[in-house]
Amino acid sequence: MVSRVIPVKAFDLVVFGGTGDLARRKILPSLFRRFVAGQMPDNAYVIGVARSEFDTNGYQDLVIAALQEFEPELSASGELKSFIKQIQYVQIDAQGDLGWSDLAGIVRKDAIQAFYFSVSPSLFGPLAEKLHQYSISSKSSRIVLEKPFGRDLNSARALNAVLKEHFSEEQIYRIDHYLGKETVQNLMAVRFGNMLFEPLWNSQYIDHIQVTVAESVGVEGRGSYYDQAGAMRDMVQNHLMQLLCLIAMEPPAKFSPDAVRDEKLKVIRALDPINSKDIVRGQYSTVGTEKGYLEAVDNPSSKTESFIALKVQISNWRWAGTPFYLRTGKKLKARCSEIAVVFKETPHSIFGPDAGSHRNALVIRLQPDEGMMMDLTIKEPGPGGMRLIDVPLDMTFAEALGPEIGAVPDAYERLIMDVIRGNQTLFMRGDEVEAAWSWTDPVINQWVSKGTSPVSYDAGSSGPEDSMMLMHRDGRKWREIS
Ligand code: BG6
Repeated sequence: MVSRVIPVKAFDLVVFGGTGDLARRKILPSLFRRFVAGQMPDNAYVIGVARSEFDTNGYQDLVIAALQEFEPELSASGELKSFIKQIQYVQIDAQGDLGWSDLAGIVRKDAIQAFYFSVSPSLFGPLAEKLHQYSISSKSSRIVLEKPFGRDLNSARALNAVLKEHFSEEQIYRIDHYLGKETVQNLMAVRFGNMLFEPLWNSQYIDHIQVTVAESVGVEGRGSYYDQAGAMRDMVQNHLMQLLCLIAMEPPAKFSPDAVRDEKLKVIRALDPINSKDIVRGQYSTVGTEKGYLEAVDNPSSKTESFIALKVQISNWRWAGTPFYLRTGKKLKARCSEIAVVFKETPHSIFGPDAGSHRNALVIRLQPDEGMMMDLTIKEPGPGGMRLIDVPLDMTFAEALGPEIGAVPDAYERLIMDVIRGNQTLFMRGDEVEAAWSWTDPVINQWVSKGTSPVSYDAGSSGPEDSMMLMHRDGRKWREIS
């Protein structure tokens, strides 16, 4: 099976923050992969923009070095030379006048224009203003924004208001890279492309749903940002919320941007406020020679959580009575992200009490080893009595789809091409972001006002013991992080 590539139209993609980490690690390598795949046409240009004093040749060298570091195999092919011809650079002062006329002279009016703000959110407003002032952007231009999109409802509203002075909602692409992950999109394909699941997808048949996004890495070099954010702002308000929405939303009438986003918004608005007894916050502690959280962020009195587990209820007809358990954390025992939909037991066992209790579970593995698994109950083989066991029907997408389909594309490849195609389905709408903050704000404010400290967990473990209790007290159990 070979994946189809449909080339996009001519575009100018201006990357503000073109020398930054995200550009080097994700944006440029993703564009390069799309170029090699034949999706980026010859008349498409990437224009790196930053404060640094480079000419186009100097910037092209930086891009080559980044691609050799982050995409070494493809960089060794002859394609790199051709790709690099489509890269340009303009030095700009985001808040002053330097470089803006040069940029205005380069960006073509007859090509698709996309402006990627890979910079601090404090520059979103000034950049939008300058693009307008120098008549670089037009009514059909797109702007692409990276998270964090605010740190609470008020700041998110302020950002939305500033952007809306010059751009309409149809022009704004707010990235949540989880939506670009293949398996996250597969969640919609599985739910709405099969007859099998949807009739059972409700509180009558589903006991509970668990979502785990476990990371084995710590805060790495991002300690100062992370310590101001914590797991709730960094992961739950956006990535886990988006997963929750895709699992819980009603079937949209069509797979179009507003139809999908309207349904997601309804889920966020139906979330019950969270009770403090349904939240466990954790912070990883030193084990052996590994740095604990406090040392990693260089803040001995930090009360920021690097782990959070929550029990969430959705008050609507479909989900009343079926809890969603969410957990995410850093320095856990493995990198493992999955959604497990755990069905109820059969209403009556014809096999008697010896058969034990059994529940089907549908597990969607987001990463690593993207795939799906279904726990089915069958008869234990052998001549003995009728004993039941649970066995997995396991499907790794890489195996099922064959090697020709190639590696799973990075989320950014899909998302950047969607920007060029003008498809906002996998981007967050302003009202979604605000609704998500409205739900998380009261919880965070309560921690701040009460000065609550997270509980400690060992680096390399499955998180705090209290998070196990959160499930245990409801007679349920987290799946292993492995
Ligand atoms: C980012 C968070 O949005 O997502 C990081 O800021 C986190 O803290 C990352 O590590 C996780 O993304 P992924 O794709 O590696 O699961």
